[in-house]
Amino acid sequence: MLGEREVAATSAPTPEQDAYWRAGAIADFVTPFDPAAACGHVFDELVDDETRVAVPVIGQDGRVLGLVERHKLILQFAKRFVRELFEKRPITFMMDRSPPVVDAWTPVERLSDHVANARANDQLGDLVVTRDGQYLGVASALSLLKRLHELSDRRLVEATEARAEAERANLAKSELLANMSHELRTPLNAIIGFSEVMRDELFGQLGNPRYRDYAGDINYSGGLLLDLINDILDLSKAEAGRLELVDEVVDLEECARVGTRLMRERAARARVALDHRSLARVPPLRADRRRLQQIVLNLLSNAIKFTPPGGSVVAFTTRAPNGGARLIVEDTGIGIAAEDIPRVLQPFGQASIVSQPQREGTGLGLPIVVKLARAHGGDMKLISTPGFGTTVMVDLPPHRLVA
Ligand SMILES: Nc1ncnc2c1ncn2[C@@H]1O[C@H](COP(=O)(O)OP(=O)(O)O)[C@@H](O)[C@H]1O
Ligand SMILES: [Mg+2]
Repeated sequence: MLGEREVAATSAPTPEQDAYWRAGAIADFVTPFDPAAACGHVFDELVDDETRVAVPVIGQDGRVLGLVERHKLILQFAKRFVRELFEKRPITFMMDRSPPVVDAWTPVERLSDHVANARANDQLGDLVVTRDGQYLGVASALSLLKRLHELSDRRLVEATEARAEAERANLAKSELLANMSHELRTPLNAIIGFSEVMRDELFGQLGNPRYRDYAGDINYSGGLLLDLINDILDLSKAEAGRLELVDEVVDLEECARVGTRLMRERAARARVALDHRSLARVPPLRADRRRLQQIVLNLLSNAIKFTPPGGSVVAFTTRAPNGGARLIVEDTGIGIAAEDIPRVLQPFGQASIVSQPQREGTGLGLPIVVKLARAHGGDMKLISTPGFGTTVMVDLPPHRLVA
């Protein structure tokens, strides 16, 4: 109890710590009886004073000895011989010797068990409240119930507000990201466009060949930055649930073909064989063409990047066991250690530097593929054996097939 009091005294009061939500705040001082008071005297007093519903019996030292409940005592006195037997005896004979006693700093919510455990034909008892073991007052069951009700109302309001606040913050985040990427893309397009003009010397020669190289570097870096911004935008949209698909009829095999064509140069530079193959005819799909193409390109670029020279990458298209469409990108590359797999599926997650020293990229490709596949009602799976290669499967659900 001492520890609790210290917490309440030193930190700013929150609803939980505030004295208002503690037993002490619902305790009313009820003039107690002396243990020597005669039962007959107590009875007479209680008959006259109906406001004293529960009256504690307190010793000289201020300790709680027991509790007398008005209606119980009156009922007992109504029984035969009770009055004659007990009238002159001290009240300690008729009091409840183990009433519920709680410290003033007990949070009211901790007393909810007291309410919850009350049995139907039991009196919902009042509580004796003490401070440092000294009698302070009586908390009636009704005042406890009222305070608990108030607390739950307040919690509800707080939870609703917290939720609204979180939603506002999330919206603000996606709006910020959307605006930011728009603001960044505009100047970036100038950088990319003009550096290309300079690199290619469209308006005449640059004085020094180094300038041409620099212009090429600026152009290349600008392109990387644009990719990154687009990826961040995609991911934040998907996380805010605002990834809008533009559905049209798409041929998955065509997507694989276009993807391998766009990646051919990169594969050649990496001296990796690149091909696409159809294992089973896939009917046209209702899907977002640009997004499907993005899935193919992200997976192919990973496969090429993580496959050493002499290896091969193949994009397969086929049907999934559930009747949907399946894209498989398989490589004979370095693979991913089992313990790294959960990480590489997370935004910005990459395999450990020990297992994969090549570190270009930002770790957004796979999570974007997962989000895009799920946005279509499908999913992505990754199987990998370090040293042998990686297989990534993207399934699209049967209802996306156009009969
Ligand atoms: N085909 C693959 N073979 C081996 N490792 C892969 C492959 N695809 C992805 N990875 C691992 O997963 C990580 C995350 O991939 P990705 O999200 O595309 O990000 P990035 O390519 O920018 O690193 C990569 O850094 C790599 O460690
Ligand atoms: Mg990648």
